[in-house]
Amino acid sequence: MTSTTLKTPATGDYEQPTGLFINGEFVKGVEGKTFEVINPSDESVICSVSEATEKDVDIAVKAARAAFEGEWRKVTPEDRGKYLHKLADLFERDLETLAAIETLDNGKAFSMAKGDVGMCVSTLHYYAGWADKIEGKVIDTNHETFNYVKKEPIGVCGQIIPWNFPLLMWAWKIGPVLATGNTVIIKSAEQTPLSALYAAKLVKEAGFPNGVVNIISGFGKVAGAAISSHMDIDKVAFTGSTVVGRQIMKAAASSNLKKVTLELGGKSPNIVFDDADIDNAISWVNFGIFFNHGQCCCAGSRVYVQEGIYDKFMARFKERASKNVVGDPFGSDTFQGPQVSQVQFDRIMSYIEHGKQSGATVETGGKRKGDKGFFIEPTIFSGVSEDMKIVQEEIFGPVCSVSKFKTAEEVVKAGNSTTYGLAAAVHTSNINTAIEVSNALKAGTVWVNSYNMLHHQLPFGGYKESGIGRELGEAALENYLQTKTVSIRLGNALFG
Ligand code: NAI
Ligand code: MG
Repeated sequence: MTSTTLKTPATGDYEQPTGLFINGEFVKGVEGKTFEVINPSDESVICSVSEATEKDVDIAVKAARAAFEGEWRKVTPEDRGKYLHKLADLFERDLETLAAIETLDNGKAFSMAKGDVGMCVSTLHYYAGWADKIEGKVIDTNHETFNYVKKEPIGVCGQIIPWNFPLLMWAWKIGPVLATGNTVIIKSAEQTPLSALYAAKLVKEAGFPNGVVNIISGFGKVAGAAISSHMDIDKVAFTGSTVVGRQIMKAAASSNLKKVTLELGGKSPNIVFDDADIDNAISWVNFGIFFNHGQCCCAGSRVYVQEGIYDKFMARFKERASKNVVGDPFGSDTFQGPQVSQVQFDRIMSYIEHGKQSGATVETGGKRKGDKGFFIEPTIFSGVSEDMKIVQEEIFGPVCSVSKFKTAEEVVKAGNSTTYGLAAAVHTSNINTAIEVSNALKAGTVWVNSYNMLHHQLPFGGYKESGIGRELGEAALENYLQTKTVSIRLGNALFG
């Protein structure tokens, strides 16, 4: 069996693929292994899916190589764009189903999951548009030579994605890799394989030639490691933890020096100045940390509030956070569902415990919610010092710290004091403060008077240990292209 009938509370019955999508077909893994997919809302088993091992990765790589050297190479840039537009249309057609699968498997609120799928549609259309706009250059060096510089696809790409935005990370990766003419093996996270497999069905329906897109489910240490160390994968792109990012780079270095891009963790500062519109700031600070249950690489987990409004801000932020509706992700008012897994739940609870033991004050939350499912109350700590673990390390849950500051200089120093540099935000009504503080923060994205406002046209990625390379926008195309210089000696035979 490579599919099963499942039911979601929002959309009813649907056919869920459970095999590995290799060379245009759903197949079982060579070793016949499967693993269980868990519903984080009630800890029940949703279904089992095939698990890819090294051998399956190898078969997928061969299919991707054959497609890259064969049929896909002959497809015109315009037609590559058409395939991607078609895929975007199919995502739009099946938006509700895709979102419901995401909610079932990941636990994110259904309303938010629909937002994710909408962003997938935009991302796929956007990269479809780029397919026939990848251009080279002519460079004049001297009278006797004609030089042109051409952009070429890298080849077979491996992409390893996480569980926090299973479908959106899929689209962010698939869009640029295909627009630029590469072929791909994409591995979903073991916690959330379902939406990527449903999307594989849409890849097939969109009519991509076999082998161009291969989608596998499996574990990081097995299938993920097989991708990063494979001798015939030309490039690996990864989103996930900094720890694993380092392992991927090492594996790439000690195998075939495949190109590497990494989108890793963060511990982003969210800074509120005295002159900020306080209602607006509270809304964005709340959204900045509690959106997607805090499971965002760019989560605004370190909140810094200037001393003049600190007391007022804290009183109202606490009230606001405690009103976030936490519960059944299919509930119409729900803002926050369960954390993705038992492992993540335990990790977050141990950070909360550690915060309490190191003397920080729990302003609100700090406990599990209910006794089934991985729900955690929105949690705010105050009375923290900069060196505490809860201020330095990525918690990846609905937990933030709030600190008081006096001057811009002091807060920029604190803002830049972690090993990460993914995102930051500044809330102020003074344009100079906004620009000067944004310039001084070491982060790949800085939001002013907002938070988490990602857009498919805007590059996203990290400074420092938050990563290498940029996703989204024109910038992401570079990850999947290489530059060829052709230099033609003319010799001045005709005109001397
Ligand atoms: P992870 O980094 O282990 O998982 C992300 C992806 O990497 C998954 O597809 C996984 O199968 C794969 N992977 C794991 N080990 C691998 C290996 N040795 N070689 C190749 N691929 C491998 O993240 P995990 O353990 O699920 O979460 C741990 C922490 O990572 C979270 O608490 C959070 O702090 C951070 N994280 C950050 C994300 C981001 O968006 N930047 C996303 C997910 C997790
Ligand atoms: Mg799950």
